[in-house]
Amino acid sequence: MFKTNVEQNNVPVFGSFESGQDLPEKRMNKESVDPRIAYQLVKDQLIDEGSARQNLATFCQTYMEPEAEQIMAETMEKNAIDKSEYPQTAKLESSCVNMLADLWNADDSEHYMGTSTVGSSEACMLGGMAMKFRWRNAARENGLDINAKKPNLVISSGYQVCWEKFCVYWDIELREVPMSEDHLSINTDIVMDYVDDYTIGIVGILGITYTGKFDDIKTLNDLVEDYNNTHDNEVVIHVDGASGAMFTPFVDPELEWDFRLPNVVSINTSGHKYGLVYPGVGWILWRDKEYLPEELVFDVSYLGGHMPTMAINFSRSASQIIGQYYNFLRFGYDGYRQIHMRTRDGALQLSQAVAETGLFEIYNDGDNLPIVCYKLKDDANVEWTLYDLADRLQMKGWQVPAYPLPKEMGNTIIQRYVCRGDLGQNMVTAFKNDLSESIEELNNAHILYHDVNTSKTHGFTH
Ligand SMILES: Cc1ncc(COP(=O)(O)O)c(C=O)c1O
Repeated sequence: MFKTNVEQNNVPVFGSFESGQDLPEKRMNKESVDPRIAYQLVKDQLIDEGSARQNLATFCQTYMEPEAEQIMAETMEKNAIDKSEYPQTAKLESSCVNMLADLWNADDSEHYMGTSTVGSSEACMLGGMAMKFRWRNAARENGLDINAKKPNLVISSGYQVCWEKFCVYWDIELREVPMSEDHLSINTDIVMDYVDDYTIGIVGILGITYTGKFDDIKTLNDLVEDYNNTHDNEVVIHVDGASGAMFTPFVDPELEWDFRLPNVVSINTSGHKYGLVYPGVGWILWRDKEYLPEELVFDVSYLGGHMPTMAINFSRSASQIIGQYYNFLRFGYDGYRQIHMRTRDGALQLSQAVAETGLFEIYNDGDNLPIVCYKLKDDANVEWTLYDLADRLQMKGWQVPAYPLPKEMGNTIIQRYVCRGDLGQNMVTAFKNDLSESIEELNNAHILYHDVNTSKTHGFTH
């Protein structure tokens, strides 16, 4: 435990009394530490975490320009929930909602609603809850016995864990449409077999976390349209666009996946993914207030005004919202498009390099979303695995995950690169060189042992 050593406050950091000891872990130190020394010690403690920009495992933003960092640092103390205290911040938040509504082609004749969240997980919870409450109200009106069965949510088995959490927290049956080698996104041939009167909604994923593949939301919309024409219980679609909803509008604006499709009632995204903001911001919008039951909108009055809120969380810093607005203003539509096109070009170069080795089968080449995903060909005839390749790349500073696909595809091990805006051309070239060197090194390695049945997850947490 630290002891006060006032005389040493002015000595160089590496000569300080505190730097001669381990950092406290189990109990808080009794005496204070000089801020300069505390800063250095904490910074040093984080030294072996790897370089965020070489982390191709995360979807989350790892670079913002200095002016963005500055405005975010200067607004860290603002509490986003204090909308009456910080009305200009609240206004920036609703401007972001307006811009997203425009980007996602909300219909002028409807009354969209939306809010910022901590990330897509909170946004998905809100989207799911809105579907559940709306289903329950409608089911009661239709005379359905709502206690006879658990309500259910239909989604492909490539869902992100937030949907499992949603179903556990809110007591919903998670109905998974299985993936297969032929259907690496939602299988539209069978999805409607999973729907019944107790279905609160179907989730379409614009950017499956595991592979980057897109669900075919347009076909899903048509299927739902047909279903709704012949059933009392109206089924709706929520689009989990955690990554795609801030990418596709700029890069493939013609692709119909959003509010242009009448049965898509809500969309979420992560501002901290292709919205290009540091972690801590997500968004959800409903195409019309009809799809956000009133029970979920709370009136907060004790902060000095009356403000509607629809968040699970309460207090958090507004700086990420301000960072999002900064980006919208700074880049504009064209800027986002240029950044994303460049990122896509980097991803396409990487998938081409992967394909040229002849060893891998590509699942996603980065054209829809800059995610490159592949497996080792069955006849690759190498002694190493994707886990070994991940280790080799890590020796060169790159964090690249290898992991099994979910559920029924659990025997398929894949590797994924998430390309982001800060992966410059020089880094793409460096990665390609490191990849071919790593393969060469593995081909020449002699001591390898593998327990054949081991399928583990290496660096995949998103
Ligand atoms: C499809 C999908 N949904 C939801 C999430 C959760 O997002 P967040 O980290 O913003 O909570 C992710 C994260 O990777 C995702 O890929």
